[in-house]
Amino acid sequence: MPLPKAELHLHIEGTLEPELAFALAARNGITLPYEDTEALRKAYLFDDLQSFLDLYYGLMAVLLTEEDFEELADAYLARAAEQGVRHAEIFFDPQAHMVRGVGIGTVIEGLGRALDRSEERHGISTRLIMCFLRDQSAESALETLEAAKPYLDRIIGIGLDSAEVGHPPAKFREVYEAAAALGLRRVAHAGEEGPPAYITEALDVLGVERIDHGLRCMEDAQLVERLVSERVPLTLCPLSNVRLRAVDVLEEHPLARMMDAGLLCTVNSDDPAYFGGYVDDTFHAVREALGLDRERLRELARNSFEASFLDGSARDEELRARYLAEVAEYSFD
Ligand code: ADE
Ligand code: ZN
Repeated sequence: MPLPKAELHLHIEGTLEPELAFALAARNGITLPYEDTEALRKAYLFDDLQSFLDLYYGLMAVLLTEEDFEELADAYLARAAEQGVRHAEIFFDPQAHMVRGVGIGTVIEGLGRALDRSEERHGISTRLIMCFLRDQSAESALETLEAAKPYLDRIIGIGLDSAEVGHPPAKFREVYEAAAALGLRRVAHAGEEGPPAYITEALDVLGVERIDHGLRCMEDAQLVERLVSERVPLTLCPLSNVRLRAVDVLEEHPLARMMDAGLLCTVNSDDPAYFGGYVDDTFHAVREALGLDRERLRELARNSFEASFLDGSARDEELRARYLAEVAEYSFD
């Protein structure tokens, strides 16, 4: 039985496995520019974030109907359950679908159908986080927030993803202010490829509660000190960092050093269909590569629930307490 954990950094579109991509393509009458699933998998050799994003956005062409989004999310949740996930806070990229003529309602209602059944079917509580694409304009983000207004009861918060360098957090000040006024929680990718200053800006200008990735904080000792003292959670994705060349090899990943420094680290899968593993696979990989002992792994699992947004109601608190008890009682043997 895998260690119980929450997954806090997971792009639902990044769970699109080649088999499902081809099945949806066939159903929707779309021809993919790959011979078969094997040829598609062979294309998963990335030089950096942008080379991944090009493929990631391209493959989304197969996602058209509510059923498609429902199947995508249900397939992820089934795999996540096998990986010990008890709670998942799931990102989605509405602009990447709206630009193709797929309405935000189709995306949210489709994902929602799978999420509504998740506790019963998979034993996983869920939340949805709507991400804005930072390489699109601030106006487009504001329009997307406006379009999401009829569905806000399904969304816990907002995030910021896509190509980081050259698109600093401050570009999105207005939409983050508007989201805060609507009662939405706030997170943002920062310090994945972008500089440590983007992490500071995400905290100070966007008011985020968690930093997605945050890897490059290690280049700035003062920033590390701040993140430690303010207990800002970082949602790290070690397999993603290797595949997108943020680190050369997993053995050189700073996760263990970050934990030693007192940072509140969590381990997540980011886009598991593309990066060679789901979240428990990632736990195993970092354990091997970095020599993390059992108490370090337990700390990562505990952090995942503590950093989650399971704090909005008595029911949330009850769930979180139950999950934390499971982590405390977990036996590695
Ligand atoms: N969208 C999907 N995965 C991403 C990542 N690792 N960084 C930025 N945007 C993303
Ligand atoms: Zn990500």
